[in-house]
Amino acid sequence: MLKVVVMVSGGGTNLQAIIDSVKDKTITNTQIVGVISNNKNAYALKRAEENGIPSKCISPKDYETREVFNEKLLEAVKGYGPDLVVLAGFLVVIPPAMIAEYRNRMINIHPSLIPSFCGTGYYGLKVHEAALERGVKVVGATVHFVDEGTDTGPIILQKAVEVEQGDVPETLQRRVMEQAEWKILPCAIDLIANGRVKVEENRTVILP
Ligand code: GRF
Repeated sequence: MLKVVVMVSGGGTNLQAIIDSVKDKTITNTQIVGVISNNKNAYALKRAEENGIPSKCISPKDYETREVFNEKLLEAVKGYGPDLVVLAGFLVVIPPAMIAEYRNRMINIHPSLIPSFCGTGYYGLKVHEAALERGVKVVGATVHFVDEGTDTGPIILQKAVEVEQGDVPETLQRRVMEQAEWKILPCAIDLIANGRVKVEENRTVILP
């Protein structure tokens, strides 16, 4: 049984997709053992509570220094004993010690087809604003392992989504979530839970 901790900062629709997918067995062999947010007002925490999943808020605002916060964050994650850490819209920089601890055991969902529209400053609506500004016809989402860079770790899954006439950032974001994020994140977790993702240098191989 793969034990998963999900880290969130906002609405938690990706967390909800994971919860629903465990329930309907789109994700097998997996238990969500905890949810951690940096934002005490994150609706994602309510989703965890409604589904009987232990949760806690670890906010940088509650600690004297970033170093102390980083220690407390890693301590909180380790406290749940996860096999896999899932960043689902988690907007805090992951401490290097945590990246080392969970190398190739921590994944992130990014709302673009990496390497487009990713890296520092590309998060949330900004990603979709940049895509519309560039005039691309296809966008999408990416699930990748987390390494020391920003959105640079080995890619696990990607899914493309059409840009439609008249799209604004909000409509594009919603379509990318509905058609891509909420599908490939659960799928990636199921693949990992069943030993089907192998990392080879900075790429992955999905085993049959
Ligand atoms: C999603 O768009 C995700 O791609 C990005 O942050 C957003 C999180 O949304 N990383 P939610 O909290 O899962 O609704």
